[in-house]
Amino acid sequence: EQFFATARTLEGKKVVITAGGTIERLDPVRYLTNDSSGKMGFALAETAARQGAEVTLISGRTAAEPAIPGIDIVHVESAEDMLGAVLARYETADIVIKSAAVADYRPVTRAANKIKKDGESLVLELERTTDILKTLGERKKQQILVGFAAETEQLEHYAMDKLRRKNCDLIVANDVTEPGAGFNVDTNVVRIFGEEGLIEQLPLMSKREVAGRILDQVAKRLKTREE
Ligand code: CTP
Ligand code: CA
Repeated sequence: EQFFATARTLEGKKVVITAGGTIERLDPVRYLTNDSSGKMGFALAETAARQGAEVTLISGRTAAEPAIPGIDIVHVESAEDMLGAVLARYETADIVIKSAAVADYRPVTRAANKIKKDGESLVLELERTTDILKTLGERKKQQILVGFAAETEQLEHYAMDKLRRKNCDLIVANDVTEPGAGFNVDTNVVRIFGEEGLIEQLPLMSKREVAGRILDQVAKRLKTREE
């Protein structure tokens, strides 16, 4: 394990981070989710705390959960639960980082009882969830808002489109088809974008290192804002 210098660049800052995948229930025993492990969000939370931030980690389903000393973890299931948990802490937050893989759709109805295998086929009707990041962008005041973008093609185009549409300060984009990037691994390959375009293109590195680089960019923006 590599050790990283811990300049306390986020001393006293209130940081809200979302991690993991959301769970959208079909019935009492079944749900829709995705491959997110939560590792990127947990690495961000740990690094921000080490830099002196007051961290709240709002976590959906994760593969493994390291206990992080001094971090307030709030567990949520659905996109709507996550929205509520983030909004409750939004007004006082200095930095919000949306690394969670939020479901884009949820079942229109949630059966009260276990769905029985009556027919030869079953069609699920899904509806859009609320876009949490977009909602935060619309209500943004002092907060530095950081979003993620998981793409398989036209990375820069889609990343910049998300940054603008969701009114983010930074977008961390990764090509999830690239080896060592994205879901369920300990490494990532990302590019960081701001309103000015590409800020940093990082090589393959551990999610901890990536977390440090993202928070460096956030600290830089905070500093220019405070000057
Ligand atoms: N996001 C969110 N709420 C949603 C969906 C996504 O807050 N209902 C956030 C994610 O946490 C991430 C960013 O939006 O920070 C981008 O997520 P991504 O899935 O890459 O983009 P989408 O806008 O959902 O578009 P698409 O899946 O079609 O690429
Ligand atoms: Ca999506």
